[in-house]
Amino acid sequence: MKTRKIKIFDTTLRDGEQSPGCTMTLEDKFKIARQLKKLNVDIIEAGFPIASPGDFEAVKTIAQEIKGPTIAGLARCIEKDIDQCWNAVQYSPKPRIHIFLATSPIHMKYKLKKTPKEIIRDAVKFTKYAKNYCTNVEFSPEDASRTQPKFLYEVLEKVIDAGATTVNIPDTVGYSIPSEFAQIIQGIKKNVSNIDQATISAHCHNDLGLSVANSIAAIEQGAGQVECTINGIGERAGNASLEEIVMTLETRKKDLKAYTGIKLNEIYKTSRMVTLCTGMTVQRNKAIVGENAFAHESGIHQHGILSHPKAYEIMTAKKIGRTTDMIIGKHSGKHAIQSELEKMGYKITRKELNQIVEKIKTLADKQKIVQEADLDAIVRDVCTKANDRIAPIQIEEISILTGNKVTPTATLKLKINGKTQTIASTGIGPVDAVANAMAQIAPSMKLKEFEIRAVTSGTNALGEVTIKVEDQKHNPFIVKAVHEDIVQASAIALVNGANKVINYQKMHRGKFK
Ligand code: KIV
Ligand code: ZN
Repeated sequence: MKTRKIKIFDTTLRDGEQSPGCTMTLEDKFKIARQLKKLNVDIIEAGFPIASPGDFEAVKTIAQEIKGPTIAGLARCIEKDIDQCWNAVQYSPKPRIHIFLATSPIHMKYKLKKTPKEIIRDAVKFTKYAKNYCTNVEFSPEDASRTQPKFLYEVLEKVIDAGATTVNIPDTVGYSIPSEFAQIIQGIKKNVSNIDQATISAHCHNDLGLSVANSIAAIEQGAGQVECTINGIGERAGNASLEEIVMTLETRKKDLKAYTGIKLNEIYKTSRMVTLCTGMTVQRNKAIVGENAFAHESGIHQHGILSHPKAYEIMTAKKIGRTTDMIIGKHSGKHAIQSELEKMGYKITRKELNQIVEKIKTLADKQKIVQEADLDAIVRDVCTKANDRIAPIQIEEISILTGNKVTPTATLKLKINGKTQTIASTGIGPVDAVANAMAQIAPSMKLKEFEIRAVTSGTNALGEVTIKVEDQKHNPFIVKAVHEDIVQASAIALVNGANKVINYQKMHRGKFK
């Protein structure tokens, strides 16, 4: 087989954004889209325009402003979805309409309540409908991996006849295994008579941790496009991770006979940006972009690396744009800190830089050296607050009383829409007392998850609190806060959570309804 270029279809802004708690602002989405262009992805799926006015606005803005990659929008096989999708993507020089319709027995019978005949009729009808707007149409038979093969072939053949230029094969529920997914692609190539008129794409979810393996299996069988997200974010366990697919192809290109156009040294920056915008941190041992992905702890490994780097290293951190030579301490100047932040992929304003420098100095007083993880946590903290520019609730004072002979009590002096208000409450512990106090002023916010972690080791390490809160409509929001004092970090996270809920409600009430 000749070496082939594989198109990278990034769906961070659509399927990725469907992750619980990953809702992004328009500003965040635009920032990420700009970075995806720098990363040189082939297609950006910018959103699902019918889903909400905010989604529509994001897809339209990205289509208007981001030139280079194809800009796709998602639509169900419904006229108004496709109309709205076209209204948003039409501004791109390279628009794509991506339509989907479920084809597995369980989805057809229980979700759509349609017969296979009706599904074929609609798949053809709406492919033609989309084609009237746009030459570039992608069709996805949702839950393809659990669809009867013969029926799948028939659907694909008919939609290609109707004008689909890409046929995407989703493993919607992440059920497939690599040998089986390879067979599905093989079967399509063999049994769909007009398959050479369309690009085969793979779209794999990670419920069994096999999304990247399944995507690679599809590529080995001739898929020409893979759909993936930065950091693997997405519904439930997520989608196939872009960085893992790309680096697998890069590291094993001779064997896989495939390559991508991705600018490898932009990978780390993009990963950081997505973490910052979504608040979803990647696990420390995550391949390629996790904190420990290139850290060799054992003496045997370190010795091996020194003798010959390739003894234990199959790729370098530098290749994906990671730096390993950072030492920030008490005496580091603003320029040095800014330069480190830029190397880490952060673009920050002067005001944010001043706040970051101040926090670094305070921490360096206690910890001598500020590690990359500390720096990361500080930046996320400062920039998240900056993102919530209009914070209706601001903290003026926090005071906590706790001990083995007193009932834990939290007193918060807050500025709420410009007016100072003091609230106090008791609780089982100090964090519970803060949560109870906050419940008095933000009763619609429900605390769903709460996690504390030390950013680095040691008793003086920064504490990072991550909470998940929900509004009355169960919209989730993930918020992080960092402080040397974990109770204060908890209070800050809860106040930021309330601000997110209030701002979200305002945005949806005021702007869109
Ligand atoms: O997982 C899935 O089936 C999807 C489709 C809309 C492509 O995301
Ligand atoms: Zn999906």
